[in-house]
Amino acid sequence: MPNISDSKCILVVGATAGIGRALAASLKALPSKPKVIVTGRRQERLDELAKQGFETVKADVNADRAGLKQFVDSVVSKYPDLDSVIFSAGIQHEFDFTKPESVNLDNLADELNTNYLAIVTMITYFLPHLLKVASTGQPAFIMPITSGLAIVPGPWVPCYCATKAALHSYSISLNEQLLDTGVHVIEIMPPLVESELHDHQGKSPSLSKVWMPLDEFTNKAMEGLKRGDTFVPIGMAAQGFEKFEKGKAEASHGAFMNMKKVTG
Ligand SMILES: NC(=O)c1ccc[n+]([C@@H]2O[C@H](COP(=O)([O-])OP(=O)(O)OC[C@H]3O[C@@H](n4cnc5c(N)ncnc54)[C@H](OP(=O)(O)O)[C@@H]3O)[C@@H](O)[C@H]2O)c1
Repeated sequence: MPNISDSKCILVVGATAGIGRALAASLKALPSKPKVIVTGRRQERLDELAKQGFETVKADVNADRAGLKQFVDSVVSKYPDLDSVIFSAGIQHEFDFTKPESVNLDNLADELNTNYLAIVTMITYFLPHLLKVASTGQPAFIMPITSGLAIVPGPWVPCYCATKAALHSYSISLNEQLLDTGVHVIEIMPPLVESELHDHQGKSPSLSKVWMPLDEFTNKAMEGLKRGDTFVPIGMAAQGFEKFEKGKAEASHGAFMNMKKVTG
């Protein structure tokens, strides 16, 4: 099974903190020694990562479409051996719809864009390159990071869960569409994990009593990536996956095959 150890050059979008930064470090330490490019908005964090031997590119995934195209084109032209992209950039906002006046619609739009629309846009822009790489026999990987909350929604972060459910659904369809291309989709589904994601909500101190330590999460995620699993659900996300998602991708595959038979 093609897996992440086959990668020669990996881009981690959103790697100045948390899960993205930890995965980038583990990927860089693989015996296959891939080149690892990291992105984020915070230049001082990128400077620290450059000192550790990472390639760095400053980028805001909330840029407009032209900005995202420019970002993708510049990465592909600077790193023509790029074969894998992890999409870790993500944000989370709480919304209380019992107090509709408190719902910040700008935050909601940012969340939808960062967690879903920008990722699908970047995938669209990266695909011509990744399909070309895969056509040479080099496996290519697209690795969206969704969440256990894509499966079982957390009502305190209702729109975050909807963005992750959308990305999860899209990942299943994308994987089906790309099945014969050599571009593989691996969806990483974390549980609640130690990171900076909840800092702005003031919740990190209390969540730190229950979240999965980052090292433990990263080790488990790397095991799935090294096996080449299509889904890498971890901890509580694995429990939700087992209970509610079993057979879903297979059913989607069946529906796609039937549709092809009917429409030719
Ligand atoms: N931690 C959890 O409990 C958990 C659970 C399930 C899923 N996840 C998912 O895992 C992924 C990583 O989250 P995390 O917990 O590691 O969060 P984190 O510690 O807050 O890190 C988020 C990363 O995304 C980057 N980012 C955010 N907005 C960006 C933007 N507009 N443009 C470019 N980069 C941006 C940040 O970099 P800059 O600020 O430097 O731009 C940072 O590197 C997210 O997709 C999250 O939804 C996390």
